[in-house]
Amino acid sequence: MRTIFLHLHPQKVNASALRINRTFGLGGMAALLIAVQLLTGILLRFYYIQNPASAYDSILFLKNNVLFGQFVRNIHYWSGVFLLMIAFLHFLRVFFTGAFRGSRRVNWWFGLVLLLLIVFANFTGYLLPWDQLAYWAITVSTNIIGYLPLAGDALRTAIIGGRELNGSTLQNFFNFHTAVLPLLMVVLVIYHFWRVRKSGGIMLPGTPDNSEMVPVMPYLVFREFIAALVLLAVLFATSALFNAPLLEKANPVYSMNPTKAPWYFAGVQELLMHFHPFFAAFVIPLLVMLFLICIPLIKIDDTQEGHWFISERGRQTAKSTAVFAIAVTLAGIFFNAWVMNFEIMLPGVPAWISNGIFPAVILLVLMAAFFYFHLNRKMLTKAELVQAAFVFIMMAFIVLTVVGVFFRGKDMELVWPWNV
Ligand code: HEM
Repeated sequence: MRTIFLHLHPQKVNASALRINRTFGLGGMAALLIAVQLLTGILLRFYYIQNPASAYDSILFLKNNVLFGQFVRNIHYWSGVFLLMIAFLHFLRVFFTGAFRGSRRVNWWFGLVLLLLIVFANFTGYLLPWDQLAYWAITVSTNIIGYLPLAGDALRTAIIGGRELNGSTLQNFFNFHTAVLPLLMVVLVIYHFWRVRKSGGIMLPGTPDNSEMVPVMPYLVFREFIAALVLLAVLFATSALFNAPLLEKANPVYSMNPTKAPWYFAGVQELLMHFHPFFAAFVIPLLVMLFLICIPLIKIDDTQEGHWFISERGRQTAKSTAVFAIAVTLAGIFFNAWVMNFEIMLPGVPAWISNGIFPAVILLVLMAAFFYFHLNRKMLTKAELVQAAFVFIMMAFIVLTVVGVFFRGKDMELVWPWNV
């Protein structure tokens, strides 16, 4: 364990590794935010009471009667949101600099686990205030788990400890949020750091044998210190200006309209509005997950590791794929909402065909046509093609999330953001 800490940094690093656009310091920022989460979480723990009768009042007490209580709660809330965003950006950075192959692939896989842990840490924390927002957001999200084939319903019942949210749900979420997930996260982050060292530091383009080596102290440590200060300043300013949400106490008989999942699940919730649940909650997420897991295993002979977007052509293709993904996703959403809904149009056909296989095939044909065109016209390499597929998935996911969060109003109808 001691060597793990001692070897967080080598004594010297390659001068070119210090350039800001290598990593943007995102991994270090994520680590700092985890530390902030742990610290503020421990403080909140002194006042929070984890049962449905008192949870909400304990938050009110913290807010109204404890010195800096609201501020600490805000920091905890915002550092959770920032952590998720920064870990996601770090994941994009690692992908687009091709830093996930060879010895780095283990870190890619553990990174994916870390990303999931961060999502679940946010998710389990969401319920704890036990207000209307928390109660109904967790209700719709856990309903999504119920759509998983075969074990979905049993899994949902096990997670929430019954048929509806209750005291056991709060206890389960509390245990995961304050013990299981933080412990796993800390262990994995330490291992993650150690693996970066084992791979010889961050990914750099080419073999910079002859480039200058500089001591970590002060060159790297000074930069990390500045980045940490800037991040903390932004976090504190956000926490001073915007309070963590708290609506009225949870009321299981009065549901919110619209009832929305937390923002990081808004993409899946949006997908559920267009695809049969078997596809939206199971097939599509599973395929995306498998794709992400398999990426480092795809044999590629043309990689330009360490170069952003592989090549100039890779960058251009990534841009055009992003535009294509935005257009197709938006068109699909509007088409399904306003023009044609296959489930209504084909009443005799089982929903998993009309609302599942049908739109999935249309999407696949469109994607195949786009990639075939690119492959033929631009003679893309395998690495560039994999990158384009990744861009498509990420852009579609971002568009679905933005529409779900900002453009769904009462009864989940499409509205302008100011009417949400
Ligand atoms: C709590 C979350 C995470 C923390 C604290 C963290 C931390 C770090 C740090 C400090 C580095 C060194 C370079 C840098 O700052 O970018 C790094 C590199 C790396 N991370 Fe993460 N990371 C996290 C999540 C992830 C995720 C979600 C992935 C991808 C699925 C990932 C994959 C990698 C890989 C492959 C490297 C090596 C990159 C290279 O050699 O250039 N990490 N991580």
